[in-house]
Amino acid sequence: MRVPLLAGNWKMHKTIKESLEFAASFSRLYFEHEAGDAGRPGEEKRSSASIPEVLICPPFTSIPSLSAFFAGTDVSIGAQDLFWEEKGAFTGEISPLMLKDAGAQYVIVGHSERRQYFGETDVTCARKVRAALDHGLKPILCVGETLSEREKGDTLKVIQKMTQEGLSQVKPHEISSVVIAYEPCWAIGTGKEARPEDAAEVITHIRQVLREVFNQNSGDDPGDVVRVLYGGSVNPSNIRGFVLRPEIDGALVGGASLDAEKFYELIVEIRKVRRS
Ligand code: PGA
Repeated sequence: MRVPLLAGNWKMHKTIKESLEFAASFSRLYFEHEAGDAGRPGEEKRSSASIPEVLICPPFTSIPSLSAFFAGTDVSIGAQDLFWEEKGAFTGEISPLMLKDAGAQYVIVGHSERRQYFGETDVTCARKVRAALDHGLKPILCVGETLSEREKGDTLKVIQKMTQEGLSQVKPHEISSVVIAYEPCWAIGTGKEARPEDAAEVITHIRQVLREVFNQNSGDDPGDVVRVLYGGSVNPSNIRGFVLRPEIDGALVGGASLDAEKFYELIVEIRKVRRS
């Protein structure tokens, strides 16, 4: 069974101090109600996995403090980008080795803001996904169509290409470590979320692409093992519609992940659906 994942993408928000304030408020809510299964900071992690798995992707500068804060709990920390080399003359870049060292377990690759403002392409995404896997980081590959691509009826074609090319350096036995986030560009930060049925249609297509590309005729069905999230204007009042769909394994959340109470409410909403 795929464990749902709730991932917060903080983008370029919060200093170290603000990140730790969030952590303190969030853990008062989260661990207060979790005594049975998550463990408090500093306590040993309990064995029964909590639903959903919770991930926070802060700016690079806050990764070490948050990793230390949540050490030994079931809250994971991730990065928002990486470069594919381990070290070298690449001014301003950060390597997978450094992210691991700072405590990251996941890394977002190919977010639409990186594609739009920083020249990320499917080719660079493929190298980043490869580098993440080589260093034991779980990549979250973002794919999503623009408004004009949707209006032209090209959504599935665009998503297929982004998925195939972004995962072109992944080997079949590695695919279960990859997470995909379907984030239509027109829904990000706009307050206009996709309709859950439309998101589910695209995600079903992504699963089909995974089957075609990674099927080894033995072992697990690659279309079934990979977690595929929805992202784009998710908030506590609309998340239910997405996680009610069995194809959708959780959410990648920007704006609503910045507030500890809202982020916790998202967890509660997922539990209402997935624990019943
Ligand atoms: P949003 O951002 O939730 O603020 O729309 C989502 C994302 O960019 O991952």
